[in-house]
Amino acid sequence: MANFNQRIIAPSLLAANWKNLSDECNRAIDSGGDWLHLDVMDGHFVENISFGPSFVKHVREIAPNAFLDTHLMIERPDNYVESFIESGSSNITIHVEPKYDISTTIQKIKESGISLGLAINPETSIEAAQPFLSQIDILLVMTVVPGFGGQKFMDEETMPKVREAAKIRKENNLNFHIQVDGGITATTAKIAAKNGANIMVAGTNTFRATDMRLAIDELRNA
Ligand code: DX5
Ligand code: ZN
Repeated sequence: MANFNQRIIAPSLLAANWKNLSDECNRAIDSGGDWLHLDVMDGHFVENISFGPSFVKHVREIAPNAFLDTHLMIERPDNYVESFIESGSSNITIHVEPKYDISTTIQKIKESGISLGLAINPETSIEAAQPFLSQIDILLVMTVVPGFGGQKFMDEETMPKVREAAKIRKENNLNFHIQVDGGITATTAKIAAKNGANIMVAGTNTFRATDMRLAIDELRNA
C-alpha cells in the first residue's frame, strides 16, 4: 500500500533555465526536490510546445538516479509512449481528455514496469478517470489549465475533485497517490494537502524562488 501521507515535491523543469539544464537539475535535487517533473507539450493538446523524448533522455543522462516524472500534455500519447519509456522516464502521466486508446496505452506503461499516472484538467470530472483508478499509481488533478507555468491556482474548480478522489480511494481501497500541478505555493499546497493531495508539482515557486531549498521545505511542510 502506498503511503499517501508521504509528501513528494516535484520541481517542474518547465520553469528551469534551460541554458544551464545540468546545473538546474542538480540544483533542484540538491535543494531537496524528490522528483523532476517534465512537462511535455505538443502545441495541439495545449497551446504551447516544450520538449520531447530526447530532452527527457538528456535529463536522464544528467541525473542517472533521479525520479523523472514525465507529464504528457499531448494529443496522442499512444504514439509516443514507447519513446518516453526508452528515454528514461520513471513515471509517465497521460491525460484522459484526448481521443486515443487509453487502455492500450495504460497497458504499455504498466508492462514496462514504470509508474503510471492519469491526469484530468480543471474542467474534467472525476467520473472520466473512474474506469482507470484501480490501475494507476498517480491521479494528477491539474490545478491550472495546462500549457504554461506561472498561472493562478484554481481552488473552487479542483479541490472538490481532490476530495472526491480521496474518498473513492478510501471506499474502494485503491492505491493511487493524488498529485496537483499548477500554481502550487506553500499556501496552495496547504489547501491541496488538506483536501487529500500528497504530491506537489511546482515550477515558478521552486526554480524561480530566491531560495529554492527554503521554497521546497515550505512545500514539504505546508
Ligand atoms: C502547466 C504544467 C505545470 C507547470 C507548473 O501546464 O503542467 O507543471 O509547469 O508551473 P507553475 O508551478 O509555475 O504553475
Ligand atoms: Zn505538469
